Parts: sequence; C-alpha cells; structure tokens
Amino acid sequence: MLELRNLRRSFGDVVALDGLSFEVAPGELCGFLGPNGAGKTTAMRCAVGVTAADAGEVRWRGQPIDLAVRRRTGYMPEERGLYPRMRVHEQLVYVARLRDVDAEVAARNADRWIDRLGIGERRDDPVEQLSLGNQQRVQLAAALVHDPELLILDEPFSGLDPLATDVMSEVLREQADAGVAVVFSSHQLDLVEDLCRTVAVVARGRLVLDGEVAALKAAGGRRLRVATDGDDDWTARLPAGAAVVSRRDATVTVALPPTLDPGAVLDVARRSGRLVDVHLDQPRLSELFRTAVADRPDLAAELTEVDR
Ligand SMILES: Nc1ncnc2c1ncn2[C@@H]1O[C@H](COP(=O)(O)OP(=O)(O)O)[C@@H](O)[C@H]1O
Ligand SMILES: [Mg+2]
Repeated sequence: MLELRNLRRSFGDVVALDGLSFEVAPGELCGFLGPNGAGKTTAMRCAVGVTAADAGEVRWRGQPIDLAVRRRTGYMPEERGLYPRMRVHEQLVYVARLRDVDAEVAARNADRWIDRLGIGERRDDPVEQLSLGNQQRVQLAAALVHDPELLILDEPFSGLDPLATDVMSEVLREQADAGVAVVFSSHQLDLVEDLCRTVAVVARGRLVLDGEVAALKAAGGRRLRVATDGDDDWTARLPAGAAVVSRRDATVTVALPPTLDPGAVLDVARRSGRLVDVHLDQPRLSELFRTAVADRPDLAAELTEVDR
C-alpha cells in the first residue's frame, strides 16, 4: 500500500499541500485529479522522495520512502527527465542501471519496452530527434524498465495523440493487473473514468473526493432526460428529491437521488403528453469532479482553465 498521511508542504506563503492523505493499493490504478495548482505534482514529488514534506509521511508497504523503495518505484516527473542527446536504448539501460538492475537484464528490458511501445525504429536515435509523443513513450519506458512495484506518473497523457493514448492506457492497465500500484495525474476526466477503478481528487492541497469510480457514480444518483409532446410544465409536479438540472425546448434533464425510482418521474411526465425521448444515465466523473471542487468558490478560475 502507498500511504500519503497528512502531508503538508508550503512554498513561502503558498500552501501547496494542506494535510493531504490518500492510499493506493497494489493492483490499483488510481487517477489523481485536481485543478491546476491543486498540489498534484507536489504530492507526487513527496511520494517519490524528490521533495521533502514539511509534515506528514509517505509509506510504501509500511516503510518510509528510502533509497531501497525509490529503486523499486517508477516515476515520470512533470518536467520529464531524459538526456536529449542519449540514444533511446542506451538511455533506458542507463536508467535501469542507476536502479541497480543487472546489465543483461537492463538491456533485455529496454528492448522489451521499446518493442512494446512501438518505437523499435527509433532504438538508436538520440531522444531529442523523436516526436513529442515518442519521447513520452521513452519516458514511460524509463519509468518501467526496472520492473517497479510502484508507478507514479505526472500527467503521462498530456500531449499524446489518440494512438499513443491507447498504448499508454493499455500499459497502465496491464501494470495494475500485474499487481503494480499505479497512480497518475491527469486532466482528462473521461479517459480516467474509463480507465481507473479509483480516483483521488485534490483541491487546494486537500482531498475533496476519493474512492471507486463506480461507487462514486452510483452515489451521485442518476440523470433522467425526458421530452414529451405535451405543453404544460409537468416538472412543477416532480416527486420529492428530484430536481431539474437543465432544460432545452421540450427536453428536461432531472437529477434523481439514488433512492428515487425514475418511473415516478416518468409517470408525471406521461400525464403531460406522450414521451418523445427518455434517457437514464449516471453522472459523469467530470460532473462529480466539478461538484467536488466547486465547493471551493475560490477555485473557479482554475476550473475554467481545466476545461480548456
Ligand atoms: N518549487 C515551487 N516553488 C514555489 N511554488 C511552488 C513550487 N512548486 C509548486 N508550487 C506552488 O504550489 C502549488 C501547487 O503546485 P503543484 O503541486 O505543481 O500543483 P498541480 O500539479 O496540481 O498543478 C501551486 O500554487 C504552485 O505554484
Ligand atoms: Mg502538476
């Protein structure tokens, strides 16, 4: 288990981490979400021991993050960390050797990841000559080449095209399925919703939402979209607990608490006219994210930035 416990970290007057706690278990693929400036990068740096926390602690399998743990961790830093002039294979071997991997195993692992990530033709090119997407694949390989048991990736999907995104998604899922604890930050909420079993959402250095995506969505109730050909406002007769969230022409979207039967709303709508459109869905992760983060009105500006 990766445990972040009550982490605090300030930079001058800026409080980056304000008592952040969460956990990632082996085999778990956790999306680490939050608006710009929320503290994700700082938290990940603390988790790999690159930045010291002012207070609180980080543990992996019950141990503090020491050199031995760092050698078993794969980390993709926000600022990326490749040597631009070094060739791809050579670089991966170098990185693996730094983590004490035997030379032969390092060479074999480097080739395995080069193959798996589809950059075989670039094996002996300097990293600086690769496209951004391919450089990112090398970054991922560098984080994985020593077969880590803990994987911490800072925005690994940023700048990737759809194909590279698919490869990255597959590799992260495979790693988690193989028992690695994987946590990565991202602003791509729809991707995280499809990919991750769990999420941790941070705002202003604090955890504002976390847990299993499916459970969070189920607890968020449902959205029922209804259109009728009637012309009276049937939503005036909605059952208790139901609330209109949006309205366009004859189409109304109603938020339902988890306990309310959607049929009760349909019964009301039906008395107004024939049903023209009906659609029942859970809230998207992006909606839950906005609600969780918007409890802090001071974050409105950053939220808008996330949307872009
Ligand atoms: N080295 C630093 N020096 C000064 N301020 C920093 C430094 N690192 C992070 N911060 C500040 O800490 C806050 C959290 O930043 P960061 O952890 O990078 O957030 P995120 O990765 O969620 O965007 C921001 O206000 C940022 O400006
Ligand atoms: Mg960041």
